[in-house]
Amino acid sequence: MNFHTLLLISACFFACVTADFLNNKVEAKDLKYLLEPLVFAEVTARRGQTVILPCVLRFKPAHYRVKWTKIEPSSFGVENVVLITNGEAMKRYGSLGPRASLRRAHHLDVSLILTQLQLEDDGEYRCQLINGIEDESVAVTLRLEGVVFPYQSPRGRYRFTFLDAKEACAAQDALLATYKQLYYAWTEGLDWCNAGWLSDGTVGYPILHPRPACGGDLLSGIRSYGLRHKTRDHYDAFCFTSPNTGTVFFILGPLNFSEAERMCRQESAELARTGHIYSSWKFQRLDQCDGGWLQDGSVRFPIIDPREPCGGTAEPGVHSFGFPNKRNRLYGAYCYR
Ligand SMILES: *[C@@H]1O[C@H](CO)[C@@H](O)[C@H](O)[C@H]1NC(C)=O
Repeated sequence: MNFHTLLLISACFFACVTADFLNNKVEAKDLKYLLEPLVFAEVTARRGQTVILPCVLRFKPAHYRVKWTKIEPSSFGVENVVLITNGEAMKRYGSLGPRASLRRAHHLDVSLILTQLQLEDDGEYRCQLINGIEDESVAVTLRLEGVVFPYQSPRGRYRFTFLDAKEACAAQDALLATYKQLYYAWTEGLDWCNAGWLSDGTVGYPILHPRPACGGDLLSGIRSYGLRHKTRDHYDAFCFTSPNTGTVFFILGPLNFSEAERMCRQESAELARTGHIYSSWKFQRLDQCDGGWLQDGSVRFPIIDPREPCGGTAEPGVHSFGFPNKRNRLYGAYCYR
């Protein structure tokens, strides 16, 4: 092989690789100023952490602004701007603004730093270069690591309006889950036969093992009822939470509900919320074979390794005894501190 063929081959090699890259892009638009975030299209973090959403210029136009916006979940027609910079000055906006800044690791870096992440920060962000002529943007997804759990009213199945469901999740240190969060939880093994509200006002349920009692022989996946009426229709809720700073611990019973409350207070703690016990189960491997009171009046227990004495439960998970009579002195207490 002579020098010329070698050159030809290597030229083709680079050209072909580049072409392949461009074809695989989500937005198949050639970017001139912004670096396509192929490597960093999704960033994951937990509540309370600091995260960097990467956005790097390829070169600087003479005059430009960079605008960071949260584009999903959408805020119904209102543009959710986080920050705008003209290269020197920077102005922050909205509820995210106070926790937002630019990394500026080098002269082409306009990556966004978000500190003290909160549950509502999960979603898709856009880094937009505005130079008057050719505006460009790239999208970066911030995925909060967390857990999705089904939640039912103490009054029974399918009692929540959309607003009730939202408030119920908030009271459990959680938010109504997004469709993507429920979908992700399904890929991790969530299978649940009761339909619940999601944050976009749709209703659905995740099924891994199709069975007659759960919609019959339909395929596995998220079964969606689509948008439901927010005040007339009633369902359960799917809540999403991410680890918080505190920890959950168990106090052995037998206790009634008010005794359980008091025992936690004696330990400078409070009865755990449902979100606390789910995230401790998932992220701190909390495994306890005893039912314990939670703040909402429910009794639950978290299982990592299924075993005979624990009610013979086959599945790892947080199991529920529902909302027993608060006078029952049969359970322990799960406290959160
Ligand atoms: C729980 O038990 C205590 C006595 O230990 C009693 O004073 C209290 O009324 C009981 N609470 C409930 C909700 O039954």
